[in-house]
Order: sequence, then structure tokens, then C-alpha cells
Amino acid sequence: MADETPPDNTADLVLVEHPALRRGEDGRPTDPTEPVAGVALVILNRPRALNALSFALLLRLAEVVEALDEDPACRAIVITGAGTRAFAAGADVAELSIQTAESLGASPGFRGWDRVAAVATPTIAAVRGYALGGGAELALACDMIVAGDDAAFGQPEINLGVIPGAGGTQRLARAIGKARAMELVLTGRRVPAAEAERLGFVTRVVPAALTLATALDLAAAVAAQPTEAVRAAVAAIRTAFETPLADGLTRERDLFRGLFGTEDQAEGMRAFLERRDPRWRAPGEPSGPVVAAPEGSAGPVARAPRGSAGPADGAH
Ligand code: CAA
Repeated sequence: MADETPPDNTADLVLVEHPALRRGEDGRPTDPTEPVAGVALVILNRPRALNALSFALLLRLAEVVEALDEDPACRAIVITGAGTRAFAAGADVAELSIQTAESLGASPGFRGWDRVAAVATPTIAAVRGYALGGGAELALACDMIVAGDDAAFGQPEINLGVIPGAGGTQRLARAIGKARAMELVLTGRRVPAAEAERLGFVTRVVPAALTLATALDLAAAVAAQPTEAVRAAVAAIRTAFETPLADGLTRERDLFRGLFGTEDQAEGMRAFLERRDPRWRAPGEPSGPVVAAPEGSAGPVARAPRGSAGPADGAH
């Protein structure tokens, strides 16, 4: 039995803001005239159900993220939940409860997580409140996670008589190791943000009110980097999770070699040798203006004369 009848307002299940607007501590845009260049914001929008991931929502999410992935003006995607209580409290249990093995196997919605994980554009989950079950799996399917200090992650499926079905056993085990993943999956215990940071599956924990603003800043820093190199790095690091090390190293080497001959590679290395900031090509332009790094980002920086800084400076 497939139970995926979309509600009338399917389009509202996922909101998109592209380019994204910077956010203040109240989560509201600070200045509608100053969008975050190259960054799209995707909002899971079922706050009354703690953004539970219905099949209709998952399908819409996959469509939205894939469309952004095709858009050269989008160089980083932030995914967050509407409201402050949850990123997403899991797959929609009411809907799941009436599924069968057959209907799940045939369900396009059930592939939503994989479709989000497969886009080439880097993705960042901005997590406040609950990220449980399929919600935690969606966050883990993203490339980075910025968590508010009010976030709580967990795989409670065992309490529903099932197991994580959207990557939770695989991605969590790879992220934090077998023994720790076993404990979390077998007990369903919730992990507060600070522990998630210690376990190493979130990128950064920030005061709750700054979660979205921080994720957007991080996305802006990524979006300011050379696009082809960013996509190659994303593909290479994801490969580390998907293949034995030897295959991963081969794939990394191939991706690395593939960047030689691109304008950004030539420009980046030339700029280093000429002791100046690189001028990255804007996407879609054969040669173009500088893609400026936002203030405070890890983007292009004025280079001090070589030898003036020690190895801890981190530039190379
Ligand atoms: N599915 C459907 N509805 C959900 C939901 C979910 N996963 N989580 C919360 N909701 C709904 C509740 O039914 C409730 O709706 P009503 O107001 O209409 O009754 C509303 O959201 C608010 O939830 P609560 O009243 O339960 O809020 P709370 O503060 O008391 O508890 C909570 C919050 C601890 C997150 C609790 O809602 C909860 O345990 N949710 C379920 C978490 C869960 O088991 N997730 C895993 C789902 S299975 C899965 O994801 C499988 C997979 O791997 C793909």
C-alpha cells in the first residue's frame, strides 16, 4: 500500500530562499537588500508536526535540492527546519505505520534522503531542537552540520520496533565508529549538541539563536571558493565514506588530477607564486571578476610575504 497522497499545499512543505538572506538572532532577515551570494536556504516547513518528514515533504525536498544543484548561481545549500523546536523529528510515524515492506520498496519518497545526499553542491544542515530518526539521518546526509546548543540528535527507531532506514546505521557508524553507533542505535538514546560535537558528527555547536546565521556564514565562505575545486573536494571526501581507502585514494587522485587545466587551478597557483590574492572565476563565466570572500570567511586572504609566518598560520 503506497500512502503518498500529497496535501493540497505540497509546495509549502519546503520553502526556498535563493539567494538566502542573512539572519539575525531572532531568525529574521537582517537586510533584505543584502543576500548571501551563491547560497540557497531550504526550510522544512511542517512546524506543527516538528517538521516530520512525510513522503510528500521528502519528494518536494529532493526536487527542490536537485533544482538548486542544477543552478550555477547556487554554490552552497543550507537546510533547516521551520521554527525553533525541531530540525525534523523523523519520518512521519503516522504515515510509516501503515506502510508495508512492498510499499516502502516502491516509494519514491523513501529515496528522498539519498537524493539529497547525491547532489554535487555542498549542503549544510542548520539544526535547532530535535533531529531524530529520519531527521538525524537527513542532517547526516548533509556535508556539514551546524548545531544550536539546544539541538538533540537521536536514532529512536528501535523504540518503534524498527531500525534507522535512511542511512542512520551506515553514516552514523562511519562518522563516530561502530561501538558508539551501536549504543545510540540499540538504545535510541538522545545525544545533546555538546556530546554530538565531542563524538565528532557535527561541524560546530553555537548558541541556539545563532544557528542559522552561522550556517549561512559558513555556506557563504564555501560559496566564495572556486566552484570546481569545491565540488571535487566534496566528491572526494564523500568517497572516503563510501569506498575502501585504496579506492578512495584512487578517486581522490583522479579528481585532483582532473582539476589541472581548469582556470581556477591555474589562477590559484599563479596567484600563490605571484604573492597575491587569487581571482576566482565566477560560475558560468570563462574568465571573470573576482568572487569576493565574505568578511571573516576562510576565503582569499592577503598573503604575507613567504617566510613571515610559522606553520601554525595554516595557510599552506
Ligand atoms: N511523525 C509524525 N508526527 C510527529 C513526529 C513524527 N516523527 N514527531 C512529532 N510529531 C507530531 C506529534 O504527533 C504532535 O502532533 P499533534 O500535536 O498533532 O499531536 C506534534 O508533532 C508535537 O509532538 P509532541 O506532542 O510529541 O511533542 P513533545 O514535545 O511531547 O515530544 C518528541 C517531542 C520527543 C520529538 C516526540 O514528538 C517524538 O518522540 N517524536 C517521534 C520521534 C521518532 O520516533 N522519530 C523517528 C521516526 S521513524 C524514522 O525516522 C524512520 C527512518 O529512519 C526513516
